[in-house]
Formats: sequence, C-alpha cells, structure tokens
Amino acid sequence: MKKISVSVIGAGARGMYAYVPYLLENPNLGEVVALAEPNEEKRNNFKNRYNIGEENIFTSWEKLLSKDKLSDAIIIANCDESHYEPTKRALEKGYHVLLEKPMSNKLDEVIKLGELAKKYNNQVFMICHVLRYTPFFSELKRIVDSKQLGELVSIQHNENIGYYHFAHSYTRGNWRNSDETSPLILAKSCHDMDLLLWLTNKKCKYISSFGSLSHMKEESHKENMANRCVDCKVERSCPYSAKKIYLEDNKLKASRYALHPSPSKVNLEKAINTGPYGRCVYKCDNNVVDHMVSILEFEGNITATFNLCAFTTDCTRTIKLMFSHGEVGGNFHKNIIDVHKFGEKYHTVIYPKILESGHGGGDFKLMEEFVSAVSCNKSELKTSAITSVESHIMAFAAEYSRLNHKVVDINKFWDNEIQ
Ligand SMILES: NC(=O)c1ccc[n+]([C@@H]2O[C@H](COP(=O)([O-])OP(=O)(O)OC[C@H]3O[C@@H](n4cnc5c(N)ncnc54)[C@H](O)[C@@H]3O)[C@@H](O)[C@H]2O)c1
Repeated sequence: MKKISVSVIGAGARGMYAYVPYLLENPNLGEVVALAEPNEEKRNNFKNRYNIGEENIFTSWEKLLSKDKLSDAIIIANCDESHYEPTKRALEKGYHVLLEKPMSNKLDEVIKLGELAKKYNNQVFMICHVLRYTPFFSELKRIVDSKQLGELVSIQHNENIGYYHFAHSYTRGNWRNSDETSPLILAKSCHDMDLLLWLTNKKCKYISSFGSLSHMKEESHKENMANRCVDCKVERSCPYSAKKIYLEDNKLKASRYALHPSPSKVNLEKAINTGPYGRCVYKCDNNVVDHMVSILEFEGNITATFNLCAFTTDCTRTIKLMFSHGEVGGNFHKNIIDVHKFGEKYHTVIYPKILESGHGGGDFKLMEEFVSAVSCNKSELKTSAITSVESHIMAFAAEYSRLNHKVVDINKFWDNEIQ
C-alpha cells in the first residue's frame, strides 16, 4: 500500500487523540504533515507529538487551505458549526477528506456536502460514524443480515449518555447550547440514526419525537447552592460536582483535555475554580434537551424506538433487536450480545472482540479504512458522505418533530430542504 500524507484541522480531543495516533502506530501507512489549530498550547503539543515542521503549522484552517495542497488527505476535526467551508475548500483543492460528524449543524449545508460528495466522487470523502466499525455493532449487523433469526421487525435502541458525561459535554461543555453548536439529537445521535439505517438496511419513512430540558436548568438551583462547585455547601452530596467528576472519579479521564491541554492536578483545579467546567450544572448557559424519545417507521414496516437520556448511571448504548424468530439484546459498554432463538432451550452469549482505541475500537478501524481507501483508491466505503446525509436528515427531522409536535414525513422534509 502506498504511504499517504495527512493534514489535520483542529487539534482538539478528536483531532489530536482519535485518529492520528493510528499513523504513529503504523508509520509505514501514513504520516501527518500539517496542522491548523488556533490554540498555541494545543498546536505545540501536536507539533511535538507528531514531529511536524514549523512551516506547516497554521493558526487557522483558512490559512492552511490557502496554501497549495499539502498532503493527500485531510482530517477535519474542528467545531460542528465550521465544518462546511473547510470541507468544501479541501474537496475543491483535491484533498481526500475525513470529516467529523456532524457533517454540519445546518441541514442545507449537509445537503450541499452530499452534492459535493457526488461532484468529487474521485476523492475519498468519509464521515466519522465510528460505531459502524466496532466489533459490537458489526456483530449485530452480521446477525441481521444472516437472517438466522428471521426477519427484523422492530428495534429498541437506547443512548444512555451517563449523568457525568451529560454534565461535561452537554451542560458545561462544547455541545450545551444548540444556538452555538447542534441540537442534542444531531450532536450525540446522528451516530444512532446512522446505526438504525445501517442495521435495518432500509430508508426511514416517518419520525416523531418528544423531549425537553427538564432538570439541568436554573429552576433546579436551590438557595444553599452556589454558582461554582468550589463555593457550594452541598457539593459533597451532588453527583454533578466538577470536583468529583474531574479530580476524584476516573470516569472522564480523556475529557480532562477539554479543561486544559495539559490536565495536571494544578491546571484542572485552576480550570474548575475559574473556567466553564467548574460551573454549577444549574447555572450554565445550556439549552439542549436532557431527555428525548423518538419513534421511527422504516420501509418494510420495521419500527424503532430511540431513547436518548442524560439520567443514566452508565455511559453506554443498549439495544434490543426483535425478529420474527428470535430476539437479540446488547450492551455496548459491557460488550455483550445475547441471542435467543424462539423455541430453543439455550441462548447464545457473544462477547465481541475488544479492540484498543476509542469508541470500542471504532476510531482506529475507521482510520484503517480511510487510509486504505486513500492509498488504494477504494470507492466502496461504509461511511461515505453520501451515505451519511440520510442519518443527519433524520436527526434534523427529529428535532423539528420535537419542537413542533408533528410526525415528520422524511421524504417531504428532505424535498422541502432541497428547494
Ligand atoms: N466521531 C465521534 O464519535 C465524535 C466524538 C466527539 C466529537 N466529535 C466531533 O468532532 C469535532 C471535534 O470535537 P472535539 O471533541 O475534538 O472538540 P474540541 O473543541 O476538543 O476540538 C476542536 C478544535 O478545533 C479548533 N479550532 C477552532 N477554530 C479553528 C479554526 N479556525 N481552524 C482550525 N481549528 C480550529 C479548536 O481550537 C479546538 O482545538 C466536533 O465536530 C465534534 O462534534 C465526534
């Protein structure tokens, strides 16, 4: 396989740690040659870690993409609200593109990116729907496609966000306010819409959603609480305490980089004392829902329910697939799949392979496909941009349904947006 060169836009959690470490582990397959990142400390960390020449380090994607093409491929991992322009420009310049989800936080831009994918169909253009690459969801897909349990009839899918993860990302952090970034169903669950499409292998016809911000808001703030955890009298009994989440529990280790590029105890304490991640969860400028349920109908009369909720102990996806001749239950975090065939005395328990790297091994597996697609001009991709448009439309339709209390006909929703 020809060795490829890669540029990166955004040296945040994803740009720095999700995909590029694959190249460090496989230096014969590719190397990082350029970076755009406005934050100086992140830029320096990235430059040192991946050994990039000073001439190829830029303070913004605009500057990197104003140069002649610097590499075969580019990973676009900056913030949701600025995905469209750099992607368009990168495709125009001839880069193969790996774009973080969501493709954009605006539906018209998602649709335009789908059109650009068709226009530049000689270039690889993939979206980071990493869950399709995990052994866990691949095993579920294998079971569905094998028809060993008959026809798939219905799915119950739950995205258990985890109370601490919700506090971090969707109350205090990057994805707390849909006016600035994305609604929760898009930010968190374009993945889940994508999984439902992939598993059913059908188009979604109708979607209806309900949900609200019920607890993580000002009304839940009591007189004995403070604006910041460090000043709060009831901090010790609060599960959302920033001190507990970032300094004591071991649950969000990787997310500590959001507080500081070098998350030492001193730097974390400073961030909790003064920064956004030390705010009381009831005193943040958040507006995204903390619970949302959706009902979906797919072609072939397949139905699904999807429950997206902040208030769960574990941070995991749980799923039940119901077939004409059996039932499958799965817990992604526990890495367990339970297969029952109706009428049989015994059931089968499957423990899918455990792979290193984030998202149950999906981050590296996706990168493996991207690198090989760029290197060998592969056009069959599991998560091409063209494929990914549909899951994004479903997420926008779900949000529209929630806000307007309407059942959305996906085909009409799509057509209206195109016009
Ligand atoms: N595939 C997944 O499962 C998954 C998981 C988490 C996040 N994401 C997505 O990945 C993207 C990045 O998320 P993150 O957690 O790394 O966020 P982050 O905030 O840690 O990183 C984004 C980085 O982009 C940088 N940036 C801002 N403006 C820029 C510019 N003009 N040019 C270049 N860089 C710029 C920021 O300084 C920051 O370092 C988001 O779109 C997010 O929704 C995907």
